[in-house]
Amino acid sequence: MLIKREDIIDRATNLARAIHEDYKGKRPVLLCVLKGASSFYLHLLEALQDVRQGFYTEFIRLSSYEGSETTGKVKVGGGLNYSDLTGKDVIIVEDIIDTGTTLYNLLPLIKAEAKPKSLEVCSLLVKRLSTPTKLDAKYIGFSIPPQFVIGFGLDYNELYRDLKDIWVISQQGIDFDPKELHK
Ligand code: IMP
Ligand code: MG
Repeated sequence: MLIKREDIIDRATNLARAIHEDYKGKRPVLLCVLKGASSFYLHLLEALQDVRQGFYTEFIRLSSYEGSETTGKVKVGGGLNYSDLTGKDVIIVEDIIDTGTTLYNLLPLIKAEAKPKSLEVCSLLVKRLSTPTKLDAKYIGFSIPPQFVIGFGLDYNELYRDLKDIWVISQQGIDFDPKELHK
């Protein structure tokens, strides 16, 4: 196991406090990047409620991965009206930043289409790479080694989002055929 659920929840609480320090008296839009960030997002919202930090919720569906390789292209799914972000303080909530390609594509798109008042990133995980990532997230949960991780919302070909904790994927996990589940 790489990160225990309890530690993720503790970290979400700390991040919520840091966000509250920066956004007191403001009402940021917390933009959840589906599907991977959903578990983290819920805990973050709960922690923000505990400190009485107001927020709006919005969701965007993106994907750039097939298996454990980034495709380099980011697909934006439906669900978000850019106008709902216009003139607001926006915090993008991500599950993980690997190469940074996803956000490198998403940030300029949101800036251009939505014209938010401000735009920051809160990511549960950032992979430590030898090459610097193309962008910085203001709020980071954990910095992890450059390995493929699953669980707590993170998937490998849609599997393992349901795991309670975060794990580095095993060869067995990679080889598993989901058709086995639906026989
Ligand atoms: P990037 O575009 O390379 O920064 O990758 C970001 C996106 O790829 C994340 O939002 C995830 O959806 C996915 N991703 C990257 N690394 C992992 C991983 O280790 N496990 C699961 N998903 C990952
Ligand atoms: Mg993602």
